[in-house]
Amino acid sequence: MIFAMDRIAPGALSALTPHSPTQWQQAPLLFQHRLHADPRFALPAVAGLIDRYPRRSYSIVHMGEQGPEGRRVWREGDFGGLDGARVLDAIECGRLWLNLRDGHALDPGLDAVMRGLFAEAGALAPPVSSYGHRLGVLVSSPGAQVYYHADLPGQGLLQLHGRKRIYIYPPRLPFLSEQGLENIALSQLEVGLEYRPEFDREAVVLDLEPGQGVFWPLNSPHRIENHDSLNVSMTLEYWTQPIRRSHMINVANGILRNHYGRAPRSRRLDGPSFYAKAALQALWRRTGRLEGQRRAARPIDFRLDPDRPGAILDLGTPQNEGQRDGQGA
Ligand SMILES: [Fe+2]
Repeated sequence: MIFAMDRIAPGALSALTPHSPTQWQQAPLLFQHRLHADPRFALPAVAGLIDRYPRRSYSIVHMGEQGPEGRRVWREGDFGGLDGARVLDAIECGRLWLNLRDGHALDPGLDAVMRGLFAEAGALAPPVSSYGHRLGVLVSSPGAQVYYHADLPGQGLLQLHGRKRIYIYPPRLPFLSEQGLENIALSQLEVGLEYRPEFDREAVVLDLEPGQGVFWPLNSPHRIENHDSLNVSMTLEYWTQPIRRSHMINVANGILRNHYGRAPRSRRLDGPSFYAKAALQALWRRTGRLEGQRRAARPIDFRLDPDRPGAILDLGTPQNEGQRDGQGA
């Protein structure tokens, strides 16, 4: 693991520097930031953000008890008319996580923060030249977990309130297989990787405090355990041309493996095999065949109980078992 021990320059948001992306491609990079002390991220401001958030852009998930056959029951819900302060109370008392997606597109202040952080990392210009930046805000209950998974774009996590432990694993076998990555690319479900407790011996384990952030190498599997406090974190996502090409290869190799019975031999990001695969996955996208691979969104089946913070009220729709993407981080 790499620590960015540089002091935060006066007026800067973080200790990220133009060296940082090269470093975080090699190993998880822990760095300092100032956003936990920024009035834009004080809890009343987060409550105000929740008040303004459009229904289509948030997910609130209840992490229920074990379901039949020992499977976890995850349910997706609605604020049920509660204001932001009461939503925060519910999350602090419950077993919930809230993902405010696309904050950069919905709030000019968040957009400015996102641009500022990527600018400090030199990630807007060559040689990184990242694009497709996205910012999300995650609010989660004491003790909440994000299970073992890997993400397709480049990812970082900045801690704003509360403490959480993140385990980051190397993006290679046995932690991550090509087939596992292909399945994520085809299904858009970040979970489903096999996890074994002995993997933890090779994990980088960080107890993230407010004012700390971490970026990790592309596709590194990770999982998160909140400590006993309400957690507010920011997720950052970015693409580069190599990441986009790698994603196209994941999709094409997954198609070849699952639909043509061919175990792909190459992950080259250039040359004739790359362009043939780029064409194959583009054809599948254009003809809508990829859509059939993707599971429908979960129905909204609970709302927050206005009288009992942290409790939920059943809306009477069927429960779904298992878990889906959208957890962020
Ligand atoms: Fe993640």
